[in-house]
Amino acid sequence: MEKIAVLTSGGDAPGMNACIRAVVRTACYKGLEIYGVERGYQGLIDGMLFPMESKSVSNIIQRGGTIIKTARCKAFETPDGRRLAFENIQEKEIDGIIAIGGNGTYTGAAYFYEEFGIPIIGAPGTIDNDLFGTDYTIGYDTAINTALDAIDKIRDTADSNDRTFFVEVMGRDAGYIALDVGLSGGAEAILVPEAHTDLDHLIAILQKGWGRKKGSQLVVVAEGDDEGGVFEIVKKIKVKVPSLDPRMVVLGHIQRGGSPTARDRVLASRVGAAAVQALIDGKTNVAVGIVNDQIHFVSLKDAVEKKKPVNAKFLELAEILST
Ligand code: F6P
Repeated sequence: MEKIAVLTSGGDAPGMNACIRAVVRTACYKGLEIYGVERGYQGLIDGMLFPMESKSVSNIIQRGGTIIKTARCKAFETPDGRRLAFENIQEKEIDGIIAIGGNGTYTGAAYFYEEFGIPIIGAPGTIDNDLFGTDYTIGYDTAINTALDAIDKIRDTADSNDRTFFVEVMGRDAGYIALDVGLSGGAEAILVPEAHTDLDHLIAILQKGWGRKKGSQLVVVAEGDDEGGVFEIVKKIKVKVPSLDPRMVVLGHIQRGGSPTARDRVLASRVGAAAVQALIDGKTNVAVGIVNDQIHFVSLKDAVEKKKPVNAKFLELAEILST
């Protein structure tokens, strides 16, 4: 292992820069040449690889986003696209790749390894926290704190006006953000894709609150909920409770921005360094994570396909604590 490359792919996540920094600095420390790839897999296909050095990552540990950019690359989902990417890697004589991202990034990495045998390690960069083989993903802690800050503000206005709010948080297929934010924001109910949403039960919770003259009620909805996003859910509820006059807020991409929390920076630094060491040790086709505070590896396939269960007890707890 003499020359390695690092890329960020898919949705950006706060802490990706801290991870890039850890990869670059560890590579330099270990005497490896390190290349950055612009815009993830798209950059591999377009040959956008550039040399990095220790100074390239100065003063980025605290910055949100990713300095090497990211993209969702359709072309890399095709064998032709991956062949082009491999040709560029061969031309630059890259011996190994570290791909920082989530599900899509890991899936692409696994195909790439299977087809061309290039050593590749995944590092968990996604606010969704939905990767198996790591207790947390880079960006998750920042995202939940950003969302919580917004929810606290929504509570102020909701309470002043005796209003009910439906707040949608990110998580296409996963309810981790919704559960943590809902519980820590004192939500009356939390709706997640992992648990069937019973709208009649939700209405009963809200009616109980109105009956007790609660000032405000907040329902936190994961965007991937089986009953839909906040607008669809409210539309369905209004059929049953026409007098309902709630406000809907979609927090959206605000959750992906901002300076990473200390926890995200520590996680990113640890997994970034471990990813470089893994390549040196001859590991490949694996994702690095942290389980019970220890560095942990699982196959890229398992990281994507195995389900990390959410703590469904949070739902009941939110209901108990908001009564
Ligand atoms: O995977 C991270 C994520 O933020 C999801 O929570 C969300 O569904 C998705 O990305 C949004 O992606 P995009 O920015 O491409 O619209």
